[in-house]
Order: sequence, then structure tokens, then C-alpha cells
Amino acid sequence: MRLSRYFLPVLKENPSEAQIASHRLMLRAGMIKQQQAGIYSWLPLGYKVLRRIEQIVHEEQIRAGHIPVLMPTMQSAELWQESGRYDAYGPEMLRIKDRHGRDMLYGPTNEEMITDIFRAHVESYKSLPMTLYQIQWKFRDEVRPRFGVMRGREFFMKDGYSFDLTREDALHAYNRHMVSYLRTYERMGLTAIPMRADSGPIGGDNTHEFLVLAPTGESEVFYDSNVTDLTLGDREVDYDNREEVEAICKEFTTLYARTDETHDEAIFNEVPEERRKSARGIEVGQIFYFGTKYSESMGAVVQTPDGSKVPVEMGSHGIGVSRLVGALIEANHDDKGIIWPEGVTPFHVGIVNLKQGDAACDSACDALYAALVKAGLDPLYDDRNERAGAKFATMDLIGLPWRITVGPRGLAANKVELTSRRSGESEEMSAEAAVAKIIEIYAPHR
Ligand SMILES: Nc1ncnc2c1ncn2[C@@H]1O[C@H](COP(=O)(O)OP(=O)(O)O)[C@@H](O)[C@H]1O
Ligand SMILES: [Mg+2]
Repeated sequence: MRLSRYFLPVLKENPSEAQIASHRLMLRAGMIKQQQAGIYSWLPLGYKVLRRIEQIVHEEQIRAGHIPVLMPTMQSAELWQESGRYDAYGPEMLRIKDRHGRDMLYGPTNEEMITDIFRAHVESYKSLPMTLYQIQWKFRDEVRPRFGVMRGREFFMKDGYSFDLTREDALHAYNRHMVSYLRTYERMGLTAIPMRADSGPIGGDNTHEFLVLAPTGESEVFYDSNVTDLTLGDREVDYDNREEVEAICKEFTTLYARTDETHDEAIFNEVPEERRKSARGIEVGQIFYFGTKYSESMGAVVQTPDGSKVPVEMGSHGIGVSRLVGALIEANHDDKGIIWPEGVTPFHVGIVNLKQGDAACDSACDALYAALVKAGLDPLYDDRNERAGAKFATMDLIGLPWRITVGPRGLAANKVELTSRRSGESEEMSAEAAVAKIIEIYAPHR
């Protein structure tokens, strides 16, 4: 993409309505535009990051053996009356009547609808285990939407639903989700700690939330500082191997890590004092095992091997896809702007032409651009007639992890400059070497 042809409405001033860095930077970098309280349009740069996150979530769900579907955002009240949640859900549910006076709603979550799909088509244990998931918009009429996309009213969520014959199978599905979530966040360059959580209105007693530590987080968390050292790394995981998957979950959930809702001072005090930490966290996902809560009320039963019929064992598992854009920025920024991790960056590399209109600079930039595109990379070339300072400021604000600067002085020595946004360090090298280095950097992310 050439910046002169792109739509990147950056703001010079700090928007006064934004209280936290991610909200401020998303507005300033032209990623989103607020349409109403808690409802946003995703402008080109923001939409690119959102899609990148969505793609990683898809890839990791499919790797875990889960099946993508897509359900409508509009649901009928009848399904929710069957489960009893139509009355229980309260004012967060946006209720709408159609032209025939029928009660509808904009889905805040999809347990009822997925259970309806399941009961219509699945009869036997032979179809199990099965996990269906979608990435779809949700609406919750939050009392206090705030912090931009972090707590929106309309937001993008991955919601997955597991169906199993037995409790043991359902717990394996729970563990499988935990591991797939750990991989998902790690690929985004994010440390999200699974913390034992409170089951709340969905019910059930087995649930973990995934929290990204950040001073602006809405949850208070307590943890053993050793948990932040745990990583999956590039180990291969066989998702069908129950012992292996369970062992990974144990590894990540044995050290103390809880939100204020489940925090227990007595147990916490057993952690060595220097490792006892309390902080704020952003909830970027949650997994639930709730058994037969919906299958019983809605009649989703399966035939067992001995011919009897039992309600199917279920769990539901969510990732806050749009919230992750904000959480990633909270975890990766400085006073100049965003610093995208390579896994989610909207463009792989920025090209800055220091002397637009100079024949040698223009053709070197064109050649660089073509070489990067040919290698399957996505560069953003700042080809505007702007001062160097303004070009650098834009690149720093939008946070591409790598920048190649092309100027007449360097070119005379056959050199361009490669700069890391995170460290600020620059290195001079030939254009060919810069392209080779960018290819190498992104190899693990493609
Ligand atoms: N209002 C919201 N705006 C943005 N993301 C949200 C919002 N509510 C929930 N999410 C994201 O969706 C994930 C799954 O939702 P869920 O656990 O059902 O929400 P909650 O914990 O608010 O009840 C959460 O972990 C969070 O990352
Ligand atoms: Mg939650």
C-alpha cells in the first residue's frame, strides 16, 4: 500500500474523550471512529489488525480440532425463554420487535442457539466429541461502555461451544481450549495468564479467565510472579492426547493466580512473600465447563452406547477479539505511539522516502516495495510529499515494527537504513540485505 492512496485519518491532537493509552492511540492512528457510545467503525488500519487477530484465533481453533460456523446476530426470544434466560438476562440484552410484533434480540452470547442447532442434528454419542465455534459480533448494552473497544456495547467475540458424552470428555474439551488459548495469545506476542474465576450468571463451577497484566485493566488480580515466566514456546501439542493436554494445563494453573472474585488470602499467603504480586488485568478470554445446564432445559440429548439417552455435556469458551486490539496496545506502546508485535502488525514494514520526487530515491523505494511484495510481505510506503519528521512521526504513531528509510546520502553508498520500532536501533545495509532480513523476521509468523 502507498500511503498517498490509503485512508489513514491520523489525528494531531489527543482526543479528550480517551482516558487510556489504547483508546487514545486507536483514535489518533485512525484505526476506529466512534459512532455511538460503545459502537465503533473499524477504519482500514484498525480493520487490518482486527482481521489479523481473527485469523490467528481461527488457525489455533482449527488446529485444536474445533469447527467454525457462523450464526446470525439476531435471535428469537423463544429460544431464550426455553432456557429461562430471557427474563434472567436483564437490561444488558438489546430487545427488539420485528414488524410482526415478534420479540427478537441482538445476541449477547449464543448458548441457546448452538444448543438448538445441536439438538436438531445430533442424536448419537458417535458424533461426539464436537466443538463448534464462531467469530461474530455481539451486543451487550453495557451501563458504562468505556476505554474504546475494551468495553464496547457492540464487540467482536470468538465463542466456542463444546459437546461431549461424559464429564471426563467435557473436561478434556475444557483443557484443550485452555491450551489453544495459550497458543493464540502467545502468537500475538501477548502474555495472558489463566486465572481461576467466578462462574457468574452462566453457572457451573469450572472456569478460568485469561488476563493480560496492565495498569488500566478492569480486574484486580493476585498472582505468584513465577507465572509470568511460563511459555508454551514452539512445542508441538497433540490435542487428542488427554494426558499431555492436561499436563500443560497443570503447568499453567498450579501457581497461584486468581482474580479478586476468587482470591483467597490464606492460600495466597503460602506463596513466598517476594513472589506475591497484586496488579490489574484485562480479561481477554474465558473458558467455562457448565455440564448440562442448557442441554437439560432445551432437550439436547444423545444416545449412549448402551442405548439410553442423556443430556449432552457442554462448555462455552470465549475470546474477546475486538478487545484484544486494545489490550495489545496497552501492552505495547510508548509515548510516540503503538509498537505492534510482528504477529499482529497491520503492515509488515514501513518504507520512508526522505526525498520524494528525487529520481534515485523514488526508484529505490519502488524497487524495495516491489521486492517486499514479491516476497509475500505487506509494506506501507510513505510516498507523500512530507517532511522527514512528519513521516517518522506517522510511522512511530501507527507502530509498524520495522521501518526502512531511503535517502539520497545513503543511496550514494548503496545503503538504506533498517530501524526497529521497539528498540529504536538502526542499521545501515543494502536494500537487498534489508529485504532478506525482513523476510527472515517474519518467517515464523506466516
Ligand atoms: N463489552 C465488551 N467489550 C469488548 N469485549 C468484551 C466485552 N464483554 C466481553 N468481552 C470479551 O469477550 C470475552 C468473553 O466474554 P464473557 O466472558 O462472556 O464476558 P464477561 O466476562 O464480560 O461476562 C471476554 O473475556 C472479553 O474478552
Ligand atoms: Mg468473562
